[in-house]
Amino acid sequence: MRHLLSTTELRRETATALLDTAEALKQALLGRQVRKLPTLRGRTVVTLFYESSTRTRASFEIAGKWMSADVVNLTAGSSSVAKGESLRDTALTLAAMGADCVVIRHPAAGAAHRLASWVPTHVINAGDGAHQHPTQALLDAATLRERLGTLNGRTVTIVGDVLHSRVARSNIELLITLGARIHLVAPPTLLPWGVQNWGGDPDGTQDQAQNRAERSWPVTVSHDLDAALPGSDAVMVLRVQAERMHGGFFPSVREYSISYGLTEARLRLLPAHAVVLHPGPMLRGMEIAHSVADSPRAVIADQVRNGVHVRMAVLYHLLASQEEQA
Ligand code: CP
Repeated sequence: MRHLLSTTELRRETATALLDTAEALKQALLGRQVRKLPTLRGRTVVTLFYESSTRTRASFEIAGKWMSADVVNLTAGSSSVAKGESLRDTALTLAAMGADCVVIRHPAAGAAHRLASWVPTHVINAGDGAHQHPTQALLDAATLRERLGTLNGRTVTIVGDVLHSRVARSNIELLITLGARIHLVAPPTLLPWGVQNWGGDPDGTQDQAQNRAERSWPVTVSHDLDAALPGSDAVMVLRVQAERMHGGFFPSVREYSISYGLTEARLRLLPAHAVVLHPGPMLRGMEIAHSVADSPRAVIADQVRNGVHVRMAVLYHLLASQEEQA
């Protein structure tokens, strides 16, 4: 694996290897006071964030530091991007300084792919517009595997602003690749056209373009959250992304919350084993009730914790030498 740009190109065996490595790293660090492995000593990781972030940026920094990499953090506001420097010139500058890996978040879909075509460094997509957020999907898969044992045959309901959600796109592809069924619940205005044809490549056999043209994956869609919950093994609540909305997508926050908010009453409709996920940041009281976010059924803190181990695993697979990996 040279880059991690999307979950579209993640085959089942690669995704499983990343999740297994994340689990092994988690076990290796469990109970240790000094969480420091020498694996990436001498390697330089640069995080380059053109959009705000708490979880992704901080956990990449922690992941790199726990593996002894040198980590440099740049944001658009604190770099020469603020003086008008282009993404390409910024990337070439970082590569010339010897960055081994650039972790990029950018508001434009495709920014990470463009970056990967300009520089010889490894590139990790930490979110590009409404397109992809592959490490979020991997940490969600790690959390679901931990709680449900397997993704195979499990039904994951994703509810909310699917239209603007890179988390939804990445999760649909990865979770289907890992054998899950996906059900989407959203107002019609917050569903992208053709969503039923999204999905991964469970057998890892097909050319992606051929895949896109020919397949129809089992993504089902409805607008009735109450009806979807009893058949769900997990429900993933998405944030309503007001910053990407230019127009009225629903009548009011109150109406959205009544129809699509995960309330305590709705939590009772889930089977006893089912869990609640949210990628964060949460809009409490709108898409998820305070009491649901804080309930034992919510695995939101586990998602954040697993995010560090998953990002360690991704850095490890990209940057550690073949000998070290062996
Ligand atoms: N889930 C997620 O990407 O959170 P941040 O925007 O805080 O990184």
